[in-house]
Amino acid sequence: MCGIVAYIGKKEAYPILIKGLQRLEYRGYDSAGVALIHNQELNLFKKQGKVSELISFASDKDTSGTIGIGHTRWATHGAPSDRNAHPHFSGNSDLAIIHNGIIENYASLKAELSQRGHQFSSDTDTEVLIHLIEDIRIKAGVDLEEAVRIALNEVVGAYAIVVLSKKNPDMLIAAKKSSPLVIGIGETDEYYIASDATPIIEYTKNVLYLNDEEIAILKKGEELRLINIKNQPKVPYIQELEMQLEAIEKGGFDHFMIKEIFEQPTSIKNSMRGRIDLNKGIVSLGGIREYKQKIINAERIIIVACGTSWHAGLVGEYLIEDFARIPVEVEYASEFRYRNPIITESDVVIAISQSGETADTLAAIKLAKEKGATIIGICNVVGSSISRATDAGSYTHAGPEIGVASTKAFTAQVTVLSLMALSLAQAKGSLSDSKLRQLMVELSTIPEKVEKLLNTDNQIKAIAEKFKNARNFLYLGRGYNFPVALEGALKLKEISYIHAEGYPAAEMKHGPIALIDEEMPVVVIATKHGNYEKVVSNIEEVKARNGKIIAIVTEGDTEVKAIADYTIEVPETDEALSPLLTTIPLQLLSYYIAIMRGCNVDQPRNLAKSVTVE
Ligand code: AGP
Ligand code: GLU
Repeated sequence: MCGIVAYIGKKEAYPILIKGLQRLEYRGYDSAGVALIHNQELNLFKKQGKVSELISFASDKDTSGTIGIGHTRWATHGAPSDRNAHPHFSGNSDLAIIHNGIIENYASLKAELSQRGHQFSSDTDTEVLIHLIEDIRIKAGVDLEEAVRIALNEVVGAYAIVVLSKKNPDMLIAAKKSSPLVIGIGETDEYYIASDATPIIEYTKNVLYLNDEEIAILKKGEELRLINIKNQPKVPYIQELEMQLEAIEKGGFDHFMIKEIFEQPTSIKNSMRGRIDLNKGIVSLGGIREYKQKIINAERIIIVACGTSWHAGLVGEYLIEDFARIPVEVEYASEFRYRNPIITESDVVIAISQSGETADTLAAIKLAKEKGATIIGICNVVGSSISRATDAGSYTHAGPEIGVASTKAFTAQVTVLSLMALSLAQAKGSLSDSKLRQLMVELSTIPEKVEKLLNTDNQIKAIAEKFKNARNFLYLGRGYNFPVALEGALKLKEISYIHAEGYPAAEMKHGPIALIDEEMPVVVIATKHGNYEKVVSNIEEVKARNGKIIAIVTEGDTEVKAIADYTIEVPETDEALSPLLTTIPLQLLSYYIAIMRGCNVDQPRNLAKSVTVE
């Protein structure tokens, strides 16, 4: 998704804006631009392409000024181009805007404004909004703050915006609805605005997360003011960021993705911290304690998520039904929100999201809330929109995940879902004390088993070398490892651009087996305590058709090793916890194949880290 950065204060704005845009590059974008006010002039520099190209373009220009706005665009309306890049100007070039989101009723607004003589220089929905603000300001004779407020009452859709005015060179106006926006409180009269905390953390830890339909007026010489679009004053809630600067740096790794893969022993440990007490034999998730009975009594748990988080939700379904015997169904949020689902007050919805800003997941929550369901969140970003939209929840504490391809967030989500399933089982008495304890002890050993597993990455590099030019991959798994097969395929697809499909191993016979030949690498998860014998049969079926097998097996396996072309061993563990291990080699395999193919693993083409538009 796009990135928003703005600054007002005493320092030169340009370096802050550029560094901020660079910190937001991981979110995915296609063009970049900045606008600054200096000596009563509003100067605009914007380009299709990377931030580095914007820097080159502006290198011989006057980029002075202590107030400015910056943007990385992920196009929704209007192709990626210089003219469609943000910031956009009003007709009289007094106002400039940057925007993340979609103005759904932009066409009707544009038609009305065109009839009133407005001329547009881009194809974007965003430019319509700044013309609307200008139109209201002139026609109604109101100040900028009021013009923004009135305009936002006419807008249908999602927005995180910052508006700059040449006539008001000491003021920024920010507003938000559905798209994320956070304000950093700097020194006196100094504010940093961004889509998330990563551009802000190096300057201040004091932040204000805008809520939907809130407008912030940041003016030098005045206290920060907050109103909503109904013109009701709101009290700013300033909180302290937990994030550390080093958490958003590469720390010596070549890419954020490989850093985050190698962080998993720590991130899994952090997602368990304070939630397992082996001495007392208790599993507890404090954030949902008040709702535990509600969840236990639920007629049904509905998990809503997207992408990798949906795969974690699928593991969660197996865990909760297996351990706590509560019916669970897993829904793609984008499908759930539009299919007129049956939701009742006896349902509990669990929304899983790393970023906490995914538009479809947010909308699914809103629908479920309207129908009276209880909403539980599992998010990684503290203070994110989804975490604030739920009744209760548990943070995954994986630390900032910068790589677009989700890795440590997935294993942290599965860890929290494992804890949740154990906690519910403990409360329901649906697991024997001995089994419960055995699982708790085994879960506690997972971080060290992941540490050991990460040492196999040279072997995985060698396998990646063999298959880096494959055109298609098939990933097969059963039971708990069926979602892992889906996740492994998604990882490969999204960073190497090789087509890959995940499938239940048994289902292969119902179609995909027609694809098998010597050109088709088949990754099969064949752990010892899974439906092992059946998976071995599936491997034989692939071999009989000259398919190439890359098998993920339990340490010490000999049977699959004898028939597979390549095997990667994972430490032995309970099958229910095996996704926390079997996923790791698949993450590494996709990473090394992508690197060998010269792909941009941290910012894959077309992808965004947080999909805040529909
Ligand atoms: C996963 O590698 C992708 N980056 C993507 O599928 C992601 O999982 C999905 O967009 C959901 O994001 P969220 O967890 O932040 O809601
Ligand atoms: N809808 C706006 C555009 O297409 C903003 C997209 C974004 O969020 O980057 O320019």
